[in-house]
Amino acid sequence: MPITTPREMFARAYKEGYAIGAFNVNNMEIVQGIMQAGAEERSPLILQVSAGARAYAGQTYIMKLVEAALSEADIPVVVHLDHGADFDICKACIDGGFSSVMFDGSHFPFEKNIEITRQVVEYAHERGVWVEAELGQLAGVEDDVHAEHSIYTDPDQAVEFVQRSGCDSLAIAIGTSHGAYKFKGEAKLDFERLDKISSMLPGYPLVLHGASSVPQEFVEMANQYGAKLGGAKGVPEEMLRKAAKSGVCKINIDSDIRLAMTANIRKYFAEHPEAFDPRAYLKPARQAVKEMVQRKIRNVLGSSHKI
Ligand code: G3H
Ligand code: 13P
Ligand code: ZN
Repeated sequence: MPITTPREMFARAYKEGYAIGAFNVNNMEIVQGIMQAGAEERSPLILQVSAGARAYAGQTYIMKLVEAALSEADIPVVVHLDHGADFDICKACIDGGFSSVMFDGSHFPFEKNIEITRQVVEYAHERGVWVEAELGQLAGVEDDVHAEHSIYTDPDQAVEFVQRSGCDSLAIAIGTSHGAYKFKGEAKLDFERLDKISSMLPGYPLVLHGASSVPQEFVEMANQYGAKLGGAKGVPEEMLRKAAKSGVCKINIDSDIRLAMTANIRKYFAEHPEAFDPRAYLKPARQAVKEMVQRKIRNVLGSSHKI
C-alpha cells in the first residue's frame, strides 16, 4: 500500500471520537512490531521519525524499512517527521517522501513560530504534504533539549496561530510531557483548556505529544531485572481515551515502546546469561513492541477496525 496522508484518517477519527497512534520508529524491530500490531488490529497507523532517529539510522535506511513494511501491509500508514526543528529538516523529509511533517517552533516567540510554520506549509502544500505545528511548551526531554516547566496553550492564540500559519493540525500543551517521568504527584491534564481549544477550532485535528502511559508492570519488570526507573509515571490510559473524544486525533507514543523493549531484553539476559546472539533478545523485544502497540490501539486510541 502506498504512503497515505493523514487527511481522511483524521477526518474519520474526529467524527467518530478516536485517535490515530503516532509511534516513533528507530530500527527494524520497532517498525515490524508496530506494523504487526496495526495489521492484526486492522488499525491505521502513523510511523514517525525524529531527528534522533534520522541521526541514528539514517533517513535512507528508515525510509527503506518503512517502504519494506508498506510493501507487505494492507493498512493505511502515514510517514511523519517528529519535531522538525527548522525549515531545512522539514524540506529534506518532504523531498524524501514523507507524507507529513511537524515543524516544532514551540520554543520560538509567537510571530517567529508563525513565520517559519507558514514557510513550511507553503513548501509542503505544493507537494501534497501535511503539516503539524506546535503552540505551547511541554516540560521534559526532547532531542536533548530539556524544558523545566510547561507553558499551556492559550486558546485564543491557538485560533490565531492556525488561521495565520495555515497548519493542518496543532500540537497543544495541556499537561503531558515527554519521557517516562511525567508527574511527580497525581496525573492531571487540563481538560477544560482542551475543550475550549477544540470548541474554538471545530473539526480541527489536535495532537497530543508526550502521551505514553508508562504502565507500572513494565517499570516493575525492568526494575526487577536491574533497571533504575523509580518514580516513572505516565498519563493514565483513560485520560487519553477522553482526550481522543475531544478533538485529539493524533496521540504520540515513544517512551512506552522503549520501556517494553528494555524490560523484555533485561528479562531475557537475566534468564539467559549465556545468550549473545542479538536475534535471541531482539525477538522478544519485537514481540513486546507489538503487544504494547496492540494494547494502545485497544485501550487508548480506539482505532481497531477503522480501515
Ligand atoms: O519527542 C521525542 C520523541 O520521543 C523522540 O525522541 O528525539 O530521542 O528520538 P528522540
Ligand atoms: P512519550 O515520551 O510520552 O512517549 O512522547 C513521545 C512524543 O511525544 C514523540 O513526539
Ligand atoms: Zn513529541
